[in-house]
Amino acid sequence: MSMIKWDDSYFTGIEQFDAEHKHLFGLLNTAYDDFIDGSQRETLGTVLDELADYATYHFANEEHWMDEFNYPDLDKHREEHEKFRLRLRELVKDYHMQKNSLSLELLTFLTNWLINHINKTDADYGRHAMSIKPGL
Ligand code: FEO
Repeated sequence: MSMIKWDDSYFTGIEQFDAEHKHLFGLLNTAYDDFIDGSQRETLGTVLDELADYATYHFANEEHWMDEFNYPDLDKHREEHEKFRLRLRELVKDYHMQKNSLSLELLTFLTNWLINHINKTDADYGRHAMSIKPGL
């Protein structure tokens, strides 16, 4: 079973970012599977680290692209990334310090944030991309 399934509604129209989003979905599904399987805290911690690192990498890639293509809502988008990135880093740090546990609520929060962000905020730069480079 998956926490989150990819479908066409998540396409931004930019191949690189669609591939990166799919990778983030995969990491969330791995975390979910490990959680359901009752994996060791260390195993779950490794997946959470990977998720935080990859999210940081992906956000930087998007911000670079938006900057390059003069995307008008870059600041707002960057702020959204930064809030989530800091929240995720804090959750992962607390997890390693045994101040919290991985829970279905936490996984649901991460998944819902990603879905909402892709469907609304990322979809906006997808439209911008199409307006400047139809057929991109
Ligand atoms: Fe795909 Fe703005 O994160």
